[in-house]
Amino acid sequence: MTEPKINFYYKNVTADVIGPEHGITVNQFDELADQTAPLIEELNDQRKAGDIPYRDLPYNEEYPAAVKALAAQVADGCENFVVLGIGGSALGNIALQTALNPYMYNIDPAQRKGPRLFVFDNVDPVQLSSFLEWISDKLDRTIFNVISKSGRTAETASQFLIIRGMLIDKLGPEAAKDRIIATTDANQGTMRKIADDAGYRTLVVPDGVGGRFSVLSPVGLLSAAVCGIDIDALLAGARDMDKRVSATDFYANPAAINAAINFNSYNCDKKISVIMPYCYALKDFADWYRQLWAESLGKSKDIAGNEVFVGPTPVKALGTTDQHSQVQLYREGPNDKLFTFLQVNKFAADVRIPSGPDCAPELSYLAGAQMSKLLNSEKLATEYALLKDKRPCLTIAFDEICPSTIGQFIYLYEVTTSLAGLLFAIDPYDQPAVELGKEATFALMKREGFEELAKEIEPIAEIDENFLV
Ligand code: PA5
Repeated sequence: MTEPKINFYYKNVTADVIGPEHGITVNQFDELADQTAPLIEELNDQRKAGDIPYRDLPYNEEYPAAVKALAAQVADGCENFVVLGIGGSALGNIALQTALNPYMYNIDPAQRKGPRLFVFDNVDPVQLSSFLEWISDKLDRTIFNVISKSGRTAETASQFLIIRGMLIDKLGPEAAKDRIIATTDANQGTMRKIADDAGYRTLVVPDGVGGRFSVLSPVGLLSAAVCGIDIDALLAGARDMDKRVSATDFYANPAAINAAINFNSYNCDKKISVIMPYCYALKDFADWYRQLWAESLGKSKDIAGNEVFVGPTPVKALGTTDQHSQVQLYREGPNDKLFTFLQVNKFAADVRIPSGPDCAPELSYLAGAQMSKLLNSEKLATEYALLKDKRPCLTIAFDEICPSTIGQFIYLYEVTTSLAGLLFAIDPYDQPAVELGKEATFALMKREGFEELAKEIEPIAEIDENFLV
């Protein structure tokens, strides 16, 4: 039996389909190939030199073994598994769960193979209060996985302090300790210090792997394994994709073509990149992609230190829902977007549409059709409509949604991001602009050492009545 795959289809960005003003000609493709091929080699060399450790995560044996051992311990008596994290410490966990477990997973015990999963990636008091009220008498059957490389991120730290306090109050310090698993840096940082001091069970955020590239590390793997997702198949899928995205032949390498098309679109005034899954299971991978793309590629300086202010704007849409919300703009608004559809060829389940009442013969065309046929027809219909207006469209087609194809997708996009970073000549692995907001929060929350920054923020905090209506 052949392994399910994902395939990348790019004919609908070519000049043959949408014309030379908005499409890419054969010559332009060859120029992009010439520009990108050496960068594939450069990336392969960086990987060999150990400079981009996320590339080797699918081959690491230690992390999945530690994750599985911990997941086996957790399985005993755990009814609720709660992830506390934000950004790269949450989006991959959410995306894996939505992709690979049933929609009613948390609600219907018959549809789940593990505990309920909750991921808190915000500090909304109303949301958290409701959860705390519900969970407070279930703490002895709940495990909390706090994920923070640094441990100093205010959102995760505050959630952790609230949960820790509640556990100690209700269960006592000894039992509280067993309810918390920390995923953090191996040696340093606030969370490492707390975990070692308290004696929590821990997993490692690998060195040199940024949050948004960490889903195939213990960061994303533990909640997945606990909830019954086959993490070996996920990693095997990533390894399969590794072969394809390491190919030095541009035209055989889907990450290289994807990065080059995105780079070219950006330079041709299509600075918005819309990802549009036609599959509910993939909807949260659109959020994961947004972070990967935005934090990695949105940079003010290139690697030589010149001001460049580059970065495509990633936008999330969901088919068919957003056909009834966004497609008017996508077709008739400015031609400034590149569309990437995610399509599923074979759905895990299907629903047949029955015939309607005699008084509505206009609905009879639906009778007997499978819902998957309707969904994929709507994808094609939207693509056709966009192409009529010369809007460039890419498609990533999944044979099916399974751990292997999800692993392939994750790895494809991570490497696409690295190659796009090389094409834009920026560092895709840092996020200096996120830091100032984090520090301003410290200042506003009166953390010691941030007094000067607090003073700088004061004029913004003061409301000028002249501008208030
Ligand atoms: O991609 C990233 O590096 C960020 O999104 C981080 O994951 C996020 O800011 C959380 O940081 P930390 O894991 O240190 O709490």
